[in-house]
Amino acid sequence: MTDTLDIKITKTTKSRLAETDFSNLVFGRTFSDHMLVADYEGGEWKNIEILPYGEIALSPAISALHYGQAFFEGLKAYKHEDGTIAVFRPEKNAARFNKSAERLCTAEIPVDLFTQSIAALVDVDRDWIPAAAGHSLYIRPVMFATDAYLGVTPSKTYKFVVLTCPVGPYFTKPLRVKFETHYTRAAEGGFGYAKAAGNYGGSMLPFKKAAEEGFDQLIWTDAKEHLYVEEMGAANVMFVLDGKLVTPSTRDTILDGVTRDTVISLAKSWGMPVEERRVSIAEVVEGARNGKLTDAFGAGTAATIAPIGAFHHNGEEFTLSDPSTREFSQKVLKTLDDIRYGRVEDTFGWNYVVR
Ligand SMILES: Cc1ncc(COP(=O)(O)O)c(C=O)c1O
Repeated sequence: MTDTLDIKITKTTKSRLAETDFSNLVFGRTFSDHMLVADYEGGEWKNIEILPYGEIALSPAISALHYGQAFFEGLKAYKHEDGTIAVFRPEKNAARFNKSAERLCTAEIPVDLFTQSIAALVDVDRDWIPAAAGHSLYIRPVMFATDAYLGVTPSKTYKFVVLTCPVGPYFTKPLRVKFETHYTRAAEGGFGYAKAAGNYGGSMLPFKKAAEEGFDQLIWTDAKEHLYVEEMGAANVMFVLDGKLVTPSTRDTILDGVTRDTVISLAKSWGMPVEERRVSIAEVVEGARNGKLTDAFGAGTAATIAPIGAFHHNGEEFTLSDPSTREFSQKVLKTLDDIRYGRVEDTFGWNYVVR
């Protein structure tokens, strides 16, 4: 770490903590008392401030609104049983944030500024971190262009804002999914690997249609032929096929997920063969038919490990094994929880301790 950041802190005089129902949290609806805001101007980040969560005044001409120069991250802080508070792998999110920044032609942010400002915010709102099983504090950093200028050109000013939300489990039941073979999330040469706001705006119609057809999620396929698996909704997708962990390799069209990397690292540490490569729909269907597909799940910060219960393809429904009987994903989930809630030694160095 470099020098400690100079962060101005103004605490709320009206905490909403006492009136918040932590047993009924809807993902992303409940915000903690404070937020962090910083400005990029004149080639540097300045005015780093933690202040009560609330509205900020912006010109309606900002280029983020018109041209989508906006991107975000998603990570979590956990409260350990001994009271330690740690953020899970924030340096990975910082690196990905800057990958998004490069692709969207915005300012980049020093890794220390990203991690330390998140740590400071989490510390201020530490009483908002739920300790119940499956609960955590979701952290949402976002950067957006603030030049009030309608020219289609990179903005010269940006805001970096961090919000936090106490959250519980995202998916509570095994998912019924379909392979999306009409709409496309991302194409070669595009910006699917960036956490660009526009990627999510573009996914809403396909999601809505899939939900109307009775699916909980959809699996994106390649833009060219719709024959290869890419991601599942806003998560990476992983399979255990013939005893190997198989997942689409990262490329232009796929977000390089922190959870994906974490699962791969765990699998390798257990001596399990891992294949990062193109994965065809055909082999997943074949695996479901011949019994070699023994596990299938989405992997993401919000979703954690989200089991696929059944999938649909070309009019056929394939029901997979009961998730509670799946050896690999159950072991991953338990190990991940043990590390994130501080129950075992963090041998990988994944916990960024706040206090
Ligand atoms: C499109 C997409 N893919 C994958 C992921 C998983 O990434 P991570 O594990 O870093 O949360 C996410 C976000 O969580 C996502 O939005």
